[in-house]
Amino acid sequence: MIEIENVRKSFGALEVLKGIDLTVAKGEVLTVIGGSGSGKSTLLTCINGLEPINSGRIKVDGTEVHAKSTDLNKLRQKIGIVFQQWNAFPHLTVLENVMLAPRKALGMTKAQAEEVAVKQLTHVGLAEKLSVYPTRMSGGQQQRMAIARALAMSPTYMLFDEVTSALDPMLVGEVLDTLRLLASEGMTMICVTHEMKFAREVSDRVAFFHQGVMAEIAPPDRLFGAPQHLETQKFLAATH
Ligand SMILES: Nc1ncnc2c1ncn2[C@@H]1O[C@H](COP(=O)(O)OP(=O)(O)OP(=O)(O)O)[C@@H](O)[C@H]1O
Ligand SMILES: [Mg+2]
Repeated sequence: MIEIENVRKSFGALEVLKGIDLTVAKGEVLTVIGGSGSGKSTLLTCINGLEPINSGRIKVDGTEVHAKSTDLNKLRQKIGIVFQQWNAFPHLTVLENVMLAPRKALGMTKAQAEEVAVKQLTHVGLAEKLSVYPTRMSGGQQQRMAIARALAMSPTYMLFDEVTSALDPMLVGEVLDTLRLLASEGMTMICVTHEMKFAREVSDRVAFFHQGVMAEIAPPDRLFGAPQHLETQKFLAATH
């Protein structure tokens, strides 16, 4: 479970998270929508401890992320994060790229890491691409490789930050299909996305962020069908 309690986060004088309260249960798929600069990416980077917070508390399976005593490297093994773009090592094959983290962070042998990497690359539909170099793959394939790389650490939680935003529209679908697959398998996921149709279809709940505040959170039918907050209504009207 991810428990976020009254989290505030500033960059200098700019407060970008203004008291966020949110709990994400195991197996839940939460999507986060909202305008540019509303704090969506910052929330994800605070959850896995990439960014410090100013006040409040974030707990992941009972471990307080920002406590001094917390071993962040260990905690991050259970929280996979995938961004808009991931720069794979160009001189390593797809398989070798995905093997790196399990070898380094989990201390797997080469054979163990290879087994895990093959399994996860197959999972995301890249079984044919093991020995290819990343630059030879499409954007959609590269994003699926990034997802496989995160999955190779056997995370309990997956955080996705606009993983389809940098893609050619033709390639968005294959990456969303991979996210749908993970959701159907019961992965606990927080997806920041601009893909409203996807959010509507895959989410247990959708959170709408506005200027550092979680203005509204509801099941997709309600959030999209009958948004309560004026800003949610404006945002949805503008994205249609
Ligand atoms: N490292 C940083 N240093 C200073 N300001 C930052 C930093 N990261 C983000 N910000 C600012 O914090 C605010 C929230 O940024 P954030 O990236 O969380 O927004 P977002 O909702 O993800 O937006 P987008 O949809 O454009 O990705 C913005 O005003 C941004 O300029
Ligand atoms: Mg962002």
